[in-house]
Amino acid sequence: MADPTTSIAEPAYLAGAVVPAPAMSTSPAQEVGDAAPRAIGIDIGGTGVKAGVVDLELGELVSPRVRRPTPQPSTPDAVLDVIAVVIDELIEGGWVTYGMPAGCGLPGVVKFGRLTTAANIDPDWVNAPVQQMLADRLGRPVVIGNDADVAGMAELLFGAARGEMGTVLMLTLGTGIGSALFVDGRLVPNTELGHLQFHGKDAEKLLSATARERRKLSWKIWAKDFNEYLAQIELYFGPDLIIVGGGGSKVYAKYMGYLTTRAPIVTARLLNSAGIVGAAMLGQAAAEQGTASLPAVESTTD
Ligand code: BGC
Repeated sequence: MADPTTSIAEPAYLAGAVVPAPAMSTSPAQEVGDAAPRAIGIDIGGTGVKAGVVDLELGELVSPRVRRPTPQPSTPDAVLDVIAVVIDELIEGGWVTYGMPAGCGLPGVVKFGRLTTAANIDPDWVNAPVQQMLADRLGRPVVIGNDADVAGMAELLFGAARGEMGTVLMLTLGTGIGSALFVDGRLVPNTELGHLQFHGKDAEKLLSATARERRKLSWKIWAKDFNEYLAQIELYFGPDLIIVGGGGSKVYAKYMGYLTTRAPIVTARLLNSAGIVGAAMLGQAAAEQGTASLPAVESTTD
């Protein structure tokens, strides 16, 4: 579906996920004739801007994972400056080839190349033509998607939920709570379950990893609330599998004993690279399908 006013299409994940065949690892610098497709993945969070070059057959970073703090205030212009610095670092390292597409995960609802909500990022993002701004700034094809959706895609294709059918729900616990809902391998985009009402508040304000620290809750007390939130989600969506991702997946052992869901819970396997890998997958798919935004002027620096 395309936006009638801008002709920007919805991100390629709407076309459904295709699991690529696994391949042998390649050398760090891509050689001539090496056909494994690569793309740039960018993951914008409330605290960090992270990027890397991803081998899309392996679902792995082949470059270093470059990270800078998210600038405050996190306006589009300030964040775009940091993204440009991070990508320049990858270019200088020789990881980026000419015209290599990029995908970018952002913390908000993504529609037609723009955010329509922004909970953990500056409100100036809402309705700014971010996808086109990024394509122009980086001089390459770019597509944007919701950060949890792209991380979930990476887990579904390469990680904890590889090949899982049925209803699979990934929840990312970080600055906020992100959600990615899959039905038989197909993403239902922009679900935003972190904003369900919980005890009269936005759930992520009480239950995200950042909220737990801010409220100085023990794992036991926090997990009691998180368990209640999961019970509510089970009631609404009846997932067959729940994946816990984000920072909350690294410390899962501290609270797993308090959770009583019917559905099994597994932790994300790609850890802090899921967002980058998923964004790169989206970037490559959109470039192939011709749905990425193209730069007004292409980069000549790589
Ligand atoms: C945003 C989501 C995002 C999540 C994790 C929430 O505040 O609304 O879009 O996925 O944070 O970053």
